[in-house]
Amino acid sequence: MSEQTATVIDGKAFAAGLRERVGGAVTTLKSEHNLTPGLAVVLVGEDPASQVYVRNKNKQTLEAGMNSWEHRMPATASEDEVLAMVRQLNDDPAVHGILVQLPLPDQIDSEKVINTINPDKDVDGFHVINAGRLATGQDSLVPCTPVGCVLLAKDQLGSLSGLEAVVVGRSNIVGKPVAQLLLQEHCTVTICHSRTRDLGEVCRRADILIAAVGRPEMVTGDWVKPGACVIDVGINRIEGEGGKTRLVGDVDYASAAKVAGSITPVPGGVGPMTIACLLRSTVLAACAQAGVTAPDI
Ligand code: GUN
Repeated sequence: MSEQTATVIDGKAFAAGLRERVGGAVTTLKSEHNLTPGLAVVLVGEDPASQVYVRNKNKQTLEAGMNSWEHRMPATASEDEVLAMVRQLNDDPAVHGILVQLPLPDQIDSEKVINTINPDKDVDGFHVINAGRLATGQDSLVPCTPVGCVLLAKDQLGSLSGLEAVVVGRSNIVGKPVAQLLLQEHCTVTICHSRTRDLGEVCRRADILIAAVGRPEMVTGDWVKPGACVIDVGINRIEGEGGKTRLVGDVDYASAAKVAGSITPVPGGVGPMTIACLLRSTVLAACAQAGVTAPDI
């Protein structure tokens, strides 16, 4: 058996460094521009995973020196009530970023809620205006996980120009925006999905392989080009030995790590990048709204 040869990409350490840089930028904005970036999060209902996520966001936002507000609404909240909350936050000048935690309860139309957020405060980058701005190469707020993927790939590889990038997954939250970002980095980009023919063969072309399908350990080592950079966005909880559950990605780490040049682990790869990128987006949104030149973070 061959051994693991891939460099393990430490997303946790990279995210910590990014949060440090965000904190430094916040200090400067406060002292030089009297500007404190602020992020408001709306959480509807009691979903346990969402509660953990929102708590972490709140903690890290405060640690970076920013203002943070949490608006909790009951699972029974009506669409009109959630829309009213979003409009109130749109009108609040201290709020530079608005994030409505997904998923929303069934009685609420998520698309309508997202598209009611002021696009300049849409730090998730999910508003249709931001999707359009990204696709046309205009300044936009960009979804956080895709930004995290590209930052990690660039940290590993330097310039991505001319590289073959293959994205497995076509969601609006990861697959499509990460493909747009890779295109901006001058990659040749292929987006694959469940109906792609010869998926393994397409993946084997990739210098950068992004797995974001939500299927546990689907991408195996024989789909990986030797030396490729493998970025695993998946977070799947599966039954492990002895009835215990464990987290795995969309990549079969053990086999892929024997072939790849570098690979993100799960957990500790892309996951920690998402909130760090959210903090970064909040700072960029605050600067744009205040007419201040954005720091290089
Ligand atoms: N739920 C899980 N991840 C996310 C995210 O990045 N943004 C929002 N709004 N909801 C989520």
